[in-house]
Amino acid sequence: MASIIGGITTSHVPAIGKAIAKNLQGDAYWKPFFDGFAPVHRWLAQARPEVLVIFYNDHGLNFFLDKMPTFSVGAAPTYTTADEGWGIPALPSFEGEQDLSWHLIDALVEAEFDITTCQEMVVDHAVTLPMALLWPDQQWPVKIVPVCINTVQFPLPSARRCYALGEAVGRAIAGWERDARVAVMGTGGLSHQLDGQRAGFINKDFDLRFMDSLLHEPKWATQFSTHQLVEKVGTQGVELLMWLATRGALAAAGERVECLHRNYHIPISNTASGLMLLAPTN
Ligand code: DHB
Ligand code: FE
Repeated sequence: MASIIGGITTSHVPAIGKAIAKNLQGDAYWKPFFDGFAPVHRWLAQARPEVLVIFYNDHGLNFFLDKMPTFSVGAAPTYTTADEGWGIPALPSFEGEQDLSWHLIDALVEAEFDITTCQEMVVDHAVTLPMALLWPDQQWPVKIVPVCINTVQFPLPSARRCYALGEAVGRAIAGWERDARVAVMGTGGLSHQLDGQRAGFINKDFDLRFMDSLLHEPKWATQFSTHQLVEKVGTQGVELLMWLATRGALAAAGERVECLHRNYHIPISNTASGLMLLAPTN
């Protein structure tokens, strides 16, 4: 049977792609951010995940406003990458783990999540940049299953529903009849608002409280409606729903998790960048 070996949550600001392309990792502006990934690299080298299930939000590349599924699961053999307008280089494509994709799809529909299945899917900076942060040589050692959550067009799924989706994904991974080491990742957040009167809004107090909650009180943020979350963390900060889904998936591996590493740095672009590495303790 497959085992869930850990979860990583990280921001996915497009400017990271430009910094990587220009080799700016050591610059004063970028160093505190990129240095945060060193402990994650050490963990990856030792834990050697074979499959990565990625909770992310598409930003208008694979889905546009004409068709916007609330939850969708990739079932493609390959995921190519493209830039949806930030001017960042496309990265090498990713190999899909189709057997796990279909296992997840079956399990999620059985659990009454009415998802959209995507046998073709292009992935944007929300997948490519976290992957490049985890594996800077861009030789991906994992196959992936992308799980996309709409945070672009209202109505958005509630925090409670996203946590429950994560739990269902976690249970499905744990029931996958393959002897594989599976990690989960959630990308987005933390607090940020890119436009409007509150452009540049960051809420450090909330972000840190949220990161703390993932350890001992994982459902804490599910008390808030999506509108309340937007108020607290900004229009795009609501991407923290990916972190909740990731934490929900880890809950399937055991009641308790430990935090192996965390980093919080403000700002990168207009965004509070957060990073957590969580592992089940039982
Ligand atoms: C920024 C952050 C995001 O999450 C995103 O998708 C696009 C831009 C930013 O801070 O610039
Ligand atoms: Fe984003």
